[in-house]
Amino acid sequence: MRILVLGSGAREHAIITSLLSERAGHEITSAPGNAGIAAVVPVVALDPTNGDVVAQYALDNAIDLVVVGPEAPLVAGVADKLRTRGIPVFGPSKAAAALEGSKTFAKRIMDEAGVPSGRAIRAGTLAEAIEAIDEYGAPYVVKADGLAAGKGVLVTPDRDAAVAHAEYWLQHGSVLVEEFLAGQEVSLFLLSDGHTVLPLSPAQDYKRVFDRDEGPNTGGMGAYSPLPWLPDGFVDEVIDTIALPTIRQLAAEQKPFIGLLYCGLILTAKGTRVIEFNARFGDPETQVVLPRLVTPLSGLLFAAATGGLGSLPRPEFSDEVAVTVVLASEGYPEDPITGRPISGLDRVEDVTIAHAATAASGDGGYIATGGRVLSVVALGETFEAARAKAYAALEQIHLEGSHYRTDIAERVV
Ligand code: AMP
Ligand code: GLY
Repeated sequence: MRILVLGSGAREHAIITSLLSERAGHEITSAPGNAGIAAVVPVVALDPTNGDVVAQYALDNAIDLVVVGPEAPLVAGVADKLRTRGIPVFGPSKAAAALEGSKTFAKRIMDEAGVPSGRAIRAGTLAEAIEAIDEYGAPYVVKADGLAAGKGVLVTPDRDAAVAHAEYWLQHGSVLVEEFLAGQEVSLFLLSDGHTVLPLSPAQDYKRVFDRDEGPNTGGMGAYSPLPWLPDGFVDEVIDTIALPTIRQLAAEQKPFIGLLYCGLILTAKGTRVIEFNARFGDPETQVVLPRLVTPLSGLLFAAATGGLGSLPRPEFSDEVAVTVVLASEGYPEDPITGRPISGLDRVEDVTIAHAATAASGDGGYIATGGRVLSVVALGETFEAARAKAYAALEQIHLEGSHYRTDIAERVV
């Protein structure tokens, strides 16, 4: 197949690594890609959020399947432009991607579909936000309504900070004040063709920047998969009570969800609750889910894009476990310092590196160009083994001022 992967993160590098591992002779290109991706497949310098440009490129190059990695092209309607021109695309329409792009829309869909989520109040003014903040009490959860690149959510015991967060994001639109939900978090990815879903293996993401879940939320500092502590029947329960009702509600509203339904869940004492939906693969969870996937990824994505998931069995996963740890630049998430050289990547053993914010430095090396620089991914028979490999590799990699969490997957060991 000729496959175009849109995006430039570690998630897209992991998707491409998985497609290449099929050894099926796929011709893969990525737009715009990154330095790590460019080392394995051709990259094209086109704007992934410009649907006309992407569609023209796909037509000119006889692309069989476009895989949309990040949310921005989806919310910009790139999948719609491709679908109108008859190009198979893995990624939902702009209307269905509002499940991620608008927390208010997601909340309405969940309410209509009877999907369990926490209580929430939408506030359009500071007075409404403060009333909601005081109604639910501490810890406070305040969220920007639209896309905020992982910075829109504040969970805090500090009322003043909650009010200030609401005040800041009200300048950009409305905010959502939610009741705090306590419990373990699970990221479950489901492939959807608009009518049927197939689950991938659950993963857990570490959102806070520092060990022991301290510091601000980030896009994700590490992840592991599978989750041996999940109750039996968990995945089926999520399919029946969350994923299918959501997909059916969207289909009934003529907004079929074709792509990756990312269910961000909390296992509370009262049952599983949705904290958010995303309309794309998660990062860094993808880096631990796809290396364990045994079923060829291309067939699954193509079947989802073309309405054929119903005839496929559930994807299979290896018994190995996977751990990924994100290396971040000094100052991430607030104000990452970029442009510094990365050394030691040639010394790492028995891990894969998924590049995120790197650029070739010209001498065969790389420099860091953003906050989350790369993900180290390790597989093992046990979490101890996978953790040991990942952290041994990180000790070999040098980036001045960089930091990473040292407790990824520690709780399962
Ligand atoms: P979100 O972007 O909505 O997934 O929120 C980012 C993170 O904030 C989540 O992964 C949770 O760790 C936390 N969070 C969000 N909503 C809640 C909630 N209602 N209760 C507790 N924690 C939450
Ligand atoms: N790791 C969280 C996300 O991809 O949204």
